[in-house]
Amino acid sequence: MNIEYKNESYTIDNVSVSNLAETYGTPCFVYSEDSISKNYNEINNAFSNNKKKVYYSVKANSNLSILKLLSELGSGFDIVSMGELDRVLKIGASPKNIVYSGVGKSESDIKKSIELGIYCINVESFSELERINKIASQLKTKAPVAIRVNPNIDPGSHEYISTGLESTKFGINLKNMMDAFMYADKENFIDLIGIDYHIGSQIETLGPFIEAVFSVAKIIKELKANNISVDLIDMGGGLGIDYGKNKVPLLKEYGEALNKAIKDNKLEDYNIILELGRSIVGNAGYLLTKVEYIKKDSEKNYVIVDAGMDNLIRPALYSAWHNIICTKTHENKKKILCDVVGPVCECADFLGKDRELIVEQDDILVVTACGAYASSMASNYNSRPKPAEIIIKNKEAKLISKREEVKDLYAREIII
Ligand SMILES: Cc1ncc(COP(=O)(O)O)c(C=O)c1O
Repeated sequence: MNIEYKNESYTIDNVSVSNLAETYGTPCFVYSEDSISKNYNEINNAFSNNKKKVYYSVKANSNLSILKLLSELGSGFDIVSMGELDRVLKIGASPKNIVYSGVGKSESDIKKSIELGIYCINVESFSELERINKIASQLKTKAPVAIRVNPNIDPGSHEYISTGLESTKFGINLKNMMDAFMYADKENFIDLIGIDYHIGSQIETLGPFIEAVFSVAKIIKELKANNISVDLIDMGGGLGIDYGKNKVPLLKEYGEALNKAIKDNKLEDYNIILELGRSIVGNAGYLLTKVEYIKKDSEKNYVIVDAGMDNLIRPALYSAWHNIICTKTHENKKKILCDVVGPVCECADFLGKDRELIVEQDDILVVTACGAYASSMASNYNSRPKPAEIIIKNKEAKLISKREEVKDLYAREIII
């Protein structure tokens, strides 16, 4: 963690939290460039070689400066929309370093991806495969595809992010996948280059990842028996992070365990990619928020802050737990048991429940591990502008996204 308490004040990469809050206002997101680089380098060093590469999963945090940083570190990109595609092209990434997943690609999405020459389209259904074939035939070219299989592996995470279970909308199940591979193999306008899976997110043990490698090796054997060959295996992402109470493998341990499973299954000759998001940026981000009120006249104590579910939806959506630190010390004041809640008009608008905090009005709180699936999942609910985003680079704060203004929110609206 890059947040530190020294000389009676909190700093993030040596920059004072209270100065950040004063300069940029609250709520705001603060990221540590050192932390992102460290995470990327850790997995890259443990895992990558000339056949194996990390693709950053843009959905985790799509800020242009963060994408540029990762591109400079050598990362490829895993995208799920044309918006994400535009972002990675904007920072100068090569289409050859882009893979494209998602269950709902439109005709124009597919056309654009083929025309640009991205590395691979990860296909999630038979009907998507047929659509790609048709579009590629119109373009008189071959579309590079990997079939996303659903290996029916329980990653042990929240049901909303357990994408490798057969009961979800993701990938093609084991029963039907061979039809898709056979179709892709025989059609003239499809270049079947690979097999893909992504079993879930915030996975806290190595077991499911290893099980998935064994499962894909078995599928590749089956493909070979049907004279179908692929040269790419996209193993998805999903490694969990420590939100304060989780015991998770290190990125290095994860990379080494995958390498062992790859070797054990004799898959070293394949091009292999990982699509990691949370484990690269998750613990590198913080949400700074100010205490507006302390409400003690209800059944519970409420610490009402200026950040809400519009900024960080994970607690409401996944019952996720984030650590919340009060950056002000109050001598001789007692802890209170409280819910830390936002100003949004929903009972689900909370950042933390049943917390013990020593806190006063106007204090600055820091919600940790907000680098992934926080700003990228933000909304404007209640017509609340999105916060500023700042990155600490070489011990200096740099603004990487301006705070939205209310007029930005209705700029596209038409009064009739
Ligand atoms: C297809 C795909 N790849 C990669 C990821 C990134 O997962 P994570 O951020 O857990 O590494 C996701 C996120 O759920 C995903 O859906």
